[in-house]
Amino acid sequence: PTTFLLWALIGYVLGSIPFGIVITRALGLGDLRKIGSGNIGATNVLRTGNKPAALATLVLDSTKGAIAVLIAKFVTGDTAAMQIAGLAAFAGHCYPVWLKFKGGKGVATYLGVVLAISFPVGLLCCATWALAFAVSRISSVGALVAAMSTTIWMFVMARGDLLLMGLALTMLIYWRHRENIARIKAGTEPKVGQKK
Ligand code: G3P
Repeated sequence: PTTFLLWALIGYVLGSIPFGIVITRALGLGDLRKIGSGNIGATNVLRTGNKPAALATLVLDSTKGAIAVLIAKFVTGDTAAMQIAGLAAFAGHCYPVWLKFKGGKGVATYLGVVLAISFPVGLLCCATWALAFAVSRISSVGALVAAMSTTIWMFVMARGDLLLMGLALTMLIYWRHRENIARIKAGTEPKVGQKK
């Protein structure tokens, strides 16, 4: 139990680094909280008009989740420790102490975590995101469809041991997207590249 607590802490600290905020501040792109959705993720960084900054946010927010899992993997080789580190990284992104617990929606971090725990499941989740996004042109729709598919892909790839983690990730992603869901229902959720 103490080692699990340690993995939770390591995961949380890594996940709580808000790369979107760090990058936009470093580049002087303005206050991300006052742009677009106000979210700290790559989609909202894209609304500053700086594509490389958005890509860097996506890659780094994903990588921090993957690294949390991979450190646990190399040190313990234990799936439970990996899942705890990954979930904690995801929670750290959504509720970072440094931003008074007002963090992001966790999509990039979730993809990084799942890729690191099961590469095939992660790839299928990424492909689902890409497909749903290609059809809708709405980032949150990609995220919600991908999140919903997670446990299905775990099942398909015979990773039933990950189902609980998948369920936790999916539920938290839906919870973090409740404003997006309301906008999608109202037909006001902006497409990527569209001015609000
Ligand atoms: O990754 C978050 C995305 O699904 C939605 O972002 O800024 O449109 O609320 P945003």
